[in-house]
Amino acid sequence: MGDVYFDNFVFSRYKHALVVTDPYIAELYGIAGDNVFLLPRGEQAKSFDNVAALCRWFLSKQLTPAGLVVAVGGGSVGDTVGFACSIFKRGIRLLHVPTTLIAMVDSAIGGKTAIDLDGVKNAVGSYFFNFDTLIDPDFLHTLDEEQLKSGAGEILKYRMLNKEIDNCVTNGENLQSVIAACVRFKQEICAEDPYCRGKRNALNFGHTIGHAMELALGLYHGCAVANGIYYETKLAASLGLCSKQYTSTWCGETEKSFSISPLTEKILDLTLQDKKNKEGSVAFALPTTFDLTYLPLDSLKELLLY
Ligand code: GLY
Repeated sequence: MGDVYFDNFVFSRYKHALVVTDPYIAELYGIAGDNVFLLPRGEQAKSFDNVAALCRWFLSKQLTPAGLVVAVGGGSVGDTVGFACSIFKRGIRLLHVPTTLIAMVDSAIGGKTAIDLDGVKNAVGSYFFNFDTLIDPDFLHTLDEEQLKSGAGEILKYRMLNKEIDNCVTNGENLQSVIAACVRFKQEICAEDPYCRGKRNALNFGHTIGHAMELALGLYHGCAVANGIYYETKLAASLGLCSKQYTSTWCGETEKSFSISPLTEKILDLTLQDKKNKEGSVAFALPTTFDLTYLPLDSLKELLLY
């Protein structure tokens, strides 16, 4: 599992560092030069074409497994560069430098890489643990409100999974402490279940409906996850898995900070693409155990729409 550094990473360990980022980040932080590759900004980065272009650039730079690739950006840059590093010459050391809150607490931790295919989010990817993460909270100063809110969506998930993180937020601790608590918690879960065969599935809470809403409505990932948390908590309540009190507390907390979009049949149809599904049933990590529950699409529609 990758180590996480907050300020003490030793770059000189590596002979040859190449940097990958996007045009917005490059401009904002003055990242330029022969060793810099720019991916398109946002979800558009996550394609086979971009992975191929990146691997060709690695070839042109004579990159070998003795070198280092530094991915500076949000989740889309990290996911795409991570996938390219996992396959190029069977693995190139990667340093994630997340620039968004959501990447700091989630996508740059734990070693999942992914690109999209034919409109299916994260359809192709790998588990890749040959990486470290360097978190510099100074990047947070350049984020707009929606980007911070997107990070808050994943933090809401962590609060529901871990009492200490919830206390950290409700006690008003600073954002750096909240980030450190989320990172610690995710690192522990991923160390125990790196390939997402058990406990790590809990981190997918809110993501089954969240990914469908992200795709259908074009929401930021964390805002879509917050919507997913809202509807999946209601679903858990209707299956008798959590109390009315729990449901009203957490759905209320979600509504306080996020705008909740209406759920439609078309959105629920998209849950059929979820990676956790089996035998035609849709999988959810539901409160309060966050173990996987499987439901046929028809029952899901019945419980959430009618
Ligand atoms: N974002 C969920 C995980 O890394 O397992």
